Amino acid sequence: MPIQHAQLHWDDQGQPLSSTHDDVYFSRESGLEETRYVFLQHNALPERFAALRAGDCLVVGETGFGTGLNFLCCWALFEQQAVAGARLHFISVEKFPLQPDDLRKALALWPQLERYSNPLLQAYQVIQPGMQTLLLADGRVQLTVLIGEASEQLAQLDGQVNAWFLDGFAPSKNPDMWSEALFSQLARLSAPDATLATFTSAGFVRRGLQAAGFAMQRSKGFGHKREMLSGTLETAPLPSWRAPWFARSVLPELSERHALVIGGGLAGCSTAFSLARRGWRVTVLEAGEHLATAASGNAQGMLYLKLSAAHTPLSQLVLAGFGYSRRLLEHWQESQQWQACGLLQLAWNEQESKRQQQLAQAFSSSLLRAVDADEASQLAGIELAAGGLFYPDSGWVSPAHLCRWLVSHPLISVVNCARISRLSQHQGLWQASGEDGRSWHAPVVVLANAADARQLPQAAHLPLKAIRGQTSLLSASDASAALRCVVSAEGYIAPAHNGLHCTGASFVFDPHSSELTALEQADNIQRLQQLSPALYQAMGGELLHGAPVRGHAALRCTAPDYLPLIGPLADANAFGSTYARLRQDARWQAKAPCPRHTGLYVNLAHGSRGLITAPLAGELLAAQLCHEPLPIPQAVADACHPDRFLLRALIRQQRPSSPQPEMPAGFC
Ligand SMILES: Cc1cc2nc3c(=O)[nH]c(=O)nc-3n(C[C@H](O)[C@H](O)[C@H](O)COP(=O)(O)OP(=O)(O)OC[C@H]3O[C@@H](n4cnc5c(N)ncnc54)[C@H](O)[C@@H]3O)c2cc1C
Ligand SMILES: C[S@@+](CC[C@H](N)C(=O)[O-])C[C@H]1O[C@@H](n2cnc3c(N)ncnc32)[C@H](O)[C@@H]1O
Repeated sequence: MPIQHAQLHWDDQGQPLSSTHDDVYFSRESGLEETRYVFLQHNALPERFAALRAGDCLVVGETGFGTGLNFLCCWALFEQQAVAGARLHFISVEKFPLQPDDLRKALALWPQLERYSNPLLQAYQVIQPGMQTLLLADGRVQLTVLIGEASEQLAQLDGQVNAWFLDGFAPSKNPDMWSEALFSQLARLSAPDATLATFTSAGFVRRGLQAAGFAMQRSKGFGHKREMLSGTLETAPLPSWRAPWFARSVLPELSERHALVIGGGLAGCSTAFSLARRGWRVTVLEAGEHLATAASGNAQGMLYLKLSAAHTPLSQLVLAGFGYSRRLLEHWQESQQWQACGLLQLAWNEQESKRQQQLAQAFSSSLLRAVDADEASQLAGIELAAGGLFYPDSGWVSPAHLCRWLVSHPLISVVNCARISRLSQHQGLWQASGEDGRSWHAPVVVLANAADARQLPQAAHLPLKAIRGQTSLLSASDASAALRCVVSAEGYIAPAHNGLHCTGASFVFDPHSSELTALEQADNIQRLQQLSPALYQAMGGELLHGAPVRGHAALRCTAPDYLPLIGPLADANAFGSTYARLRQDARWQAKAPCPRHTGLYVNLAHGSRGLITAPLAGELLAAQLCHEPLPIPQAVADACHPDRFLLRALIRQQRPSSPQPEMPAGFC
């Protein structure tokens, strides 16, 4: 659903009020003191933050993000009380997010919180429906805003919350935020030590929370309010059946949090980044002479969103990944190696035009909007024959530079020229052996080496496919330098960077080499000509066919369903015997834990969209490893689980096989 922003009016003190709910966002007496008293004190957060050890992460959940005042106060307290190395993960659900300008105006009321509100305002971008991950304080503080109806969003969350703030407007004005369905989600998501606090003392709220399993108590309310409520989880609800093949892997107690990441492309570097910011030591083992030698080595990659109006798991992943990648790039502000210049997807035929009309209805205009050929030409700075969709927050990135930035953390070391040919495990420690006889050890290994992962016996069953592609680098002319945004259709071209345009990309199922070919350069030039005859002419027209063959060729790694593979790896043979009954009964609710290679994970198959999916995949993997709330809905994480193919093969009584070559329409 497109986003619904908060409708506000402002009182004579400059405080925001909701026009929809006719209620205040915080106490008129002192919002700040109310937050400290009701939510921080009654969840005992000063003491709990002070008791955290390095490596611990406390998770706070909130109903109603509003202006973020509670979040900022919580962050400020965390910073005062917690040791370095501890982390805060604040998860808040919000159906009507404030527009950035309204947020700025509301937070200007609290100059004493500027140190926190400024970074929040900077990170509060590209906010779209669903789970939105924002990193603050160098990743020490994570804010996940769930944009949508509270009980629906919480029902999709996979994680455990230690302390709840219930802050969803007065129950009399907004009963949706105080429903039984919501209370049962709070109980389901509560950690065994979970507490909660709320400003209201309404009897039906107290009784509803008691019925959900919380022991509740009344205390003196803030300011003129007589009473408020707080509580602790007393009776955890019985968990419903969870498919063991998708359940999280349990790691034994680790003497050192150290991971070997095999492969130094976008997936490997993103995994290293996400683990290092959680305090893990990471060794990236890369076969090439430097990082990003394979698919991640293009000069310019596009932040290309292939969405679906049906909001499929892939589309949800792409939307969440786009927001995460874009906000992450903001932390790399000094870089000349990316540009949020916007991206045009041209409606190049009738079918694409219909698809785009559906997308324009299904997504917010802040994400994408329909433009006609005139507006498209104005946005591009180059004449275009067709209109299409414009994505203002999109743009291009240099993947190789991004990889280097992602691993620039003191806990990450990179070893080049380390082609791993064997993995073995002894007494809880993995040994990764290189072709040259060197070896490395750690309790956790993440395979991020794209389709080459299949060469290791533990991953040989994964149905990965390699599809060759080539991008071309063509000299910019004075006229083509006018190109202001990325333009895409069956191919794409980016604005000039260092005097060159990157354009692409070919799709070839054979051979599996990474040599540049003149034939594929000719293909790229032909796609450019179809994309914009004016741009083609501006860049030299026929003369382009004599241009030197320059660019990058590599293999994209894809899975049959075009979703990536992110998560722990099962022992394929033991999986088949443990769950053999699924062959007869596909609905069997197996209880036996999934037989896994303990400590072995994969981050693979990012296809044509690694810039959008790989950074979020790193977060997902790190959250799984650290038993933290997942950054995407549980159903989307299940859809990306590497076990899905073993499961499907059992149910269909087949062996997992290689995907059939198939060209995903409209990309690159
Ligand atoms: C021509 C082309 C154009 C593309 N355009 C775009 C685009 O515009 N936008 C976009 O988002 N995506 C694009 N992509 C896709 C994107 O580049 C990939 O999704 C992404 O780079 C995948 O990253 P990765 O880390 O999974 O794989 P890779 O970058 O391939 O990294 C795998 C790494 O593992 C290493 N390795 C392999 N085997 C071993 C081993 N045994 N031991 C140690 N290391 C090993 C390799 O050397 C390699 O560096 C394009 C891809 C291609 C090929
Ligand atoms: C009192 S305000 C929250 C104030 C906020 N905690 C702060 O620090 O500014 C209540 C919030 O709940 C949100 N809300 C109301 N109904 C909702 C629903 N059904 N699902 C999710 N959020 C909802 C409102 O948009 C509003 O932002």
